Amino acid sequence: MEQEIKKGLAGVVVDTTAISKVNPETNSLLYRGYPVQELAETQPFEAVAYLLWHGELPTSDDLEHLRRTEREHRALADSVRAAIDLLPHDAHPMDEVRTAVSALGAIDLAGSGSVLDATGSAEENLARSVRLFAALPAIVAYGQRRRRGEELVEPRDDLDYAANFLWMTFGEDPDEIVIDAFNRSMVLYAEHSFNASTFTARVITSTLSDLYSAVVGAIGALKGPLHGGANEAVMHVFDEIGSAERVVPWLDAALAEKRKIMGFGHRVYKNGDSRVPTMRAALDALVAHYDRRDLADLSDALEREFMERKGIHPNLDYPSGPAYHLIGFDTPMFTPLFIASRVTGWTAHVMEQAASNALIRPLSAYDGPDERHVADLTP
Ligand code: CMC
Repeated sequence: MEQEIKKGLAGVVVDTTAISKVNPETNSLLYRGYPVQELAETQPFEAVAYLLWHGELPTSDDLEHLRRTEREHRALADSVRAAIDLLPHDAHPMDEVRTAVSALGAIDLAGSGSVLDATGSAEENLARSVRLFAALPAIVAYGQRRRRGEELVEPRDDLDYAANFLWMTFGEDPDEIVIDAFNRSMVLYAEHSFNASTFTARVITSTLSDLYSAVVGAIGALKGPLHGGANEAVMHVFDEIGSAERVVPWLDAALAEKRKIMGFGHRVYKNGDSRVPTMRAALDALVAHYDRRDLADLSDALEREFMERKGIHPNLDYPSGPAYHLIGFDTPMFTPLFIASRVTGWTAHVMEQAASNALIRPLSAYDGPDERHVADLTP
């Protein structure tokens, strides 16, 4: 019987989730029922992390408690730093963060007698999620500083998550506009149902492997330019084009070569990504703050031309790439920033998968040679 193959699992519904709802008809995204743009405009990232893990926004006591725990686990552990320092200075930051999370997992799970002990209870996995969420900014910030030959900056207890992240990266008190833009990006990147990296995390969890292994696998999936790597790739495209005047000839050549234009298109949203206007507003504020109209002109010109020719809308990576550039992050750091945010969604999915687990093991249709035997080979 002819089996129907759904290449790329396109259109396949594999499970239920209560964490987020992506609606392709309305191009909307809800986290636990709340529109993502509302959360980005009103909530600190810590509150959104809490929402993804617990299903409700935190009370002020809940938020205070989470913030206290987060502060306790902010500093870069010596052993994790030592693991990072073993890597070449020009290792890609995605490989660096993947290695650091793997090291964190090995350290945290040291002493667990067997692979069964590592799986973790719901409470243990929540505590691991908070620790990872708290530890990632230091790992990412150190990554940028190490690349630049700068010293590690210790975390500050008087700053909330987003401000402290920027402090540890740049060693300067960040402006409110910058903190707000960065916080928005963290909220917008946090969760997106069964995207490739989240699905990877769920597949790994379904084998009863541990949360750290699930996150390491998810980081590997996120690295690809068809997924998270696109925010870095957008900036390379902007660098390649150079200025708004050069958009038309560049696009003519790129389309003639059948290149995919990074930061445009989406597997689910075909009529626009609801996260874009909120991030675009943050980018506009940064453009004004840093007086970089040239970058906005280039971005607007490419979007206009590409939309006119192909009718394909920009996705979140399109405004977030240049926003991270203006804040001062090096281009290869953009996807690690996505990790620091998405780790909240991944770990919420790990806990949801673990709570009602079924081993994820699809079938394949074989199209290789018919059965044959070594003995039939002629010498
Ligand atoms: N540039 C040029 N053509 C495109 C693009 C693009 N960015 N996106 C889609 N198309 C064309 C594609 O060539 C194809 O045309 P045709 O039917 O003539 O062959 C058609 O549109 C359908 O594209 P597809 O690749 O089959 O659609 P998909 O749903 O498999 O792809 C996508 C979605 C995100 C992989 C794709 O749009 C893409 O490669 N975009 C660029 C990379 C990017 O920005 N990725 C970030 C995605 S959003 C953030 C995230 O989830 O991580």
